[in-house]
Amino acid sequence: MKVVVANWKMNPATPREAVKLARAEDKLKVIVAPPFPFLEDVGRVLKRATLGAQDAFWISRGAYTGEVSVQQLKRLRVSYVIVGHSERRAQGETNGMVRKKVEAVHAAGLTPILCVGEPWPVRKKGFAAAKRYVARQLHAALSGTRKKLIVAYEPVWAIGSGKADSPAEAAEMADFIKELLIVSYRSSVKVLYGGSVTPRNARAFLKARALDGALVGGASLRPRDFTKIISAINVANR
Ligand code: 13P
Repeated sequence: MKVVVANWKMNPATPREAVKLARAEDKLKVIVAPPFPFLEDVGRVLKRATLGAQDAFWISRGAYTGEVSVQQLKRLRVSYVIVGHSERRAQGETNGMVRKKVEAVHAAGLTPILCVGEPWPVRKKGFAAAKRYVARQLHAALSGTRKKLIVAYEPVWAIGSGKADSPAEAAEMADFIKELLIVSYRSSVKVLYGGSVTPRNARAFLKARALDGALVGGASLRPRDFTKIISAINVANR
């Protein structure tokens, strides 16, 4: 079954708005990932959708100002944790940190949504270069685990730019990722596409056999748009 993840990033402004948005997105096959301060309120509202977090630290407790542990998230009924988003990597998160986070999420019995994707200077060199970049990110983040994992292919240049990748290339990358994980880790994963997914292009991405869903940023803040993307998921799951 295909899934759609709503990554709200650092939105909305108030708990009230968060609860309203959560109610509008509370559908099966949806994972809602609000900012930390809204997790509890949103978790209380969701009946059909599943709760996700946007990040987590790899140590369970202690003197780590500003960090949030996987155990703390688990207590709020979080089931999925986005790890290694390019916006976090841009803030200095390294492959080594991403790996520790994936391990911590797995150790707590939750499912990581591991984000990978090449920046524009790499893609400019061609699709083969993009695949090499993504392969490096995957090997650096995974330690041979066969635990449940979702990979999100989010080319950095497609995020928030209005320039989505083509569904054909996103599907080719998804096949490449699946093959690599089977061969290297005997691990079969879902692969999502993320980067300027809209109600207009969602159907084309979700139709692709290799793609198991979408990771949606901007459009997940607009209930009307997001509802259309959910309909596209329902069509694809028929
Ligand atoms: P946009 O859908 O706004 O391009 O963001 C994608 C993303 O980063 C989801 O994690």
